[in-house]
Amino acid sequence: MSSPTPPDLVIHPRDRRFGRETPQRRWWHGGDPYLTALYNAMSVTFPKGEAFFVESVRTFRDGVPPRLADETAAFTRQEVVHSREHLAFNKRVSEAGYDVSGLHRAVDARLAYVRTKRPIASLAATMALEHFTAILAHELLSDPRHLAGADPEAAAMWRWHACEEIEHKGVAHDVWLHATRDWPRARRWFVKSFVMLFVTRNFLKDRTLGALDLLAQDGLRGPRAWGRLFHAAFIKPGMMRRILGGWAAYFLPGFHPWNHDNRDLIATAEFELRA
Ligand SMILES: [Fe+2]
Ligand SMILES: [Fe+2]
Repeated sequence: MSSPTPPDLVIHPRDRRFGRETPQRRWWHGGDPYLTALYNAMSVTFPKGEAFFVESVRTFRDGVPPRLADETAAFTRQEVVHSREHLAFNKRVSEAGYDVSGLHRAVDARLAYVRTKRPIASLAATMALEHFTAILAHELLSDPRHLAGADPEAAAMWRWHACEEIEHKGVAHDVWLHATRDWPRARRWFVKSFVMLFVTRNFLKDRTLGALDLLAQDGLRGPRAWGRLFHAAFIKPGMMRRILGGWAAYFLPGFHPWNHDNRDLIATAEFELRA
């Protein structure tokens, strides 16, 4: 199965550590509790979520072409280091005084549900969530306003993660193309589209409830807090609004993450991370 993944793409894990030496503010994102809550709610899900992605992709690695096998191994190594860094980041979130146990329970419940389904459903969910992380990463690296005012070590960690999410954005998709190579196109499109809608609803619902849980611990509750959270997510800086086009592209027939080659963003961010 041919794929639009660039033939010269190299997925190389960057084993970096962040924030071990410097204290992290409770509202590390520019002193803003709403942006801090949005990013913290996402980070809490990453260690378990990324372990699930790895498990889902590896279930289907047998028989894939050698190049995709190598990419799958590199994807695994990248996600393992992401989990390590988000565990360290989440520890700092807890040390800042947040109780994240409710957020963990929500992730556990979602993962337990999807594991009752066939493994191909887990792969489809992983492919959808990897697209989600890739478009979030694209937007994060495209516009410096998203991390403006954030603690430098935390900002560097999110940028580093974004680079690698872009780099390996096609892996789950290519494994899916291989695993479903005998399926009719219509069935493939229907399953991946249905799963994306399901995953999107859960992502929005769970991350919103997670952020509201953290904000309540800051004493920020009720319609005013909901409005300010919505404003941060959809208006300014408005990450969720800005990824809408990339999200919708997933439903186009012939969609592939590498139909859009955005490796220039990795090169620029890497240069800045080294500086
Ligand atoms: Fe990751
Ligand atoms: Fe990923």
